[in-house]
Amino acid sequence: MLLDPNFPEQLDRVLKIFRQSTPVSLPTETVYGLAAPLNDEKAIAKVFSLKNRPTFHPLIVHVLDWMMAESYVDDCSELAKILIRAFWPGPLSLMLKRKKSKVPDLVTGGSDFVVLRCPKHPVFRNILSRWNSPLVAPSANRFSGISPTDCYSVLKELGPFGLEAVVDGGECALGLESTIVRIDSDTKISILRHGAVSAEQIKEILPDGVRVFSGVTDKNAPGSLEKHYSPAKKLYFIEAEEDLKKLTKSELKEMALLKVLEKDASWIDESLFKNRFILSTRNSDIEAASRFFRVIRRLDESKVYKAIVACATANKGLGVAINDRLLRASK
Ligand code: TXA
Ligand code: MG
Repeated sequence: MLLDPNFPEQLDRVLKIFRQSTPVSLPTETVYGLAAPLNDEKAIAKVFSLKNRPTFHPLIVHVLDWMMAESYVDDCSELAKILIRAFWPGPLSLMLKRKKSKVPDLVTGGSDFVVLRCPKHPVFRNILSRWNSPLVAPSANRFSGISPTDCYSVLKELGPFGLEAVVDGGECALGLESTIVRIDSDTKISILRHGAVSAEQIKEILPDGVRVFSGVTDKNAPGSLEKHYSPAKKLYFIEAEEDLKKLTKSELKEMALLKVLEKDASWIDESLFKNRFILSTRNSDIEAASRFFRVIRRLDESKVYKAIVACATANKGLGVAINDRLLRASK
């Protein structure tokens, strides 16, 4: 069922479906989520099975504001409050100590920490405020697949597996998942998943002397599955000229070249490929991010290309999050 948020009675449907312990896909400003009530283990079990996701893989808890979040965490440091004031509502998720009696084990994979996110999308916020309690929402794709950034992609991903409904909130403005941050001490934080808020943006608002650690290699870190965000087609991630040498000219002729920014990989001979795609011809990492999953999905579905050759972009701004996803998509 495709629901239109412009009709209040269609949004009422969402609440009704939640009451039947069934998840609904909702738009966020990052990617579409598969939402279910936090306190309903039956609905959460359906989230895992619809996504074909192993249950040790924890879910992000979505709240309307800090007031809604407060009673679900054990303590909140000054640094966390600074980040919340700067970025909520918006795509910065925070890992905090969970209150065990309020956040089920199933949601955190048994961990003592819960990841909290306060989405900005008006449709998601409307539902949260009417439900008046947190919702879990992983991205609405099958496990290790490409995150959906419009409702039709959600239907393609999860429709065949019994998704009950998706609310059409248009295309996601940002197009990359939220950035996940852990507070390690009063002077150190770690970026566990790079996403729609860049490390530079975070550093800008932190007090002097706080270090931002990124590139966590912990195997259990969020989004740290080696293979993730993957198309069905082979995607080659090219970081240097020699990476291209593994492919023959006749193979390249059947492939799509994907560049993040026009100015990336200026050494590459674009005429070797069947076609080229550039996520931002005006070299904007924000524009590139907003088109990223949509273009990968289209190239994956196209019958014209046998494979995708994606070039690394500069590791700054949203380029860090994009490179991270391209690398995992290539596995
Ligand atoms: O932008 C987003 O964050 C989107 C939208 C729908 O809000 N959601 C999203 O959820 O990306 P998901 O489940 O696709 O990715 C969340 C990542 C996963 O890699 C998960 O392992 C990690 O966050 N995660 C969630 N809770 C965690 C926890 N308590 N401890 C460690 N990792 C956690
Ligand atoms: Mg995901």
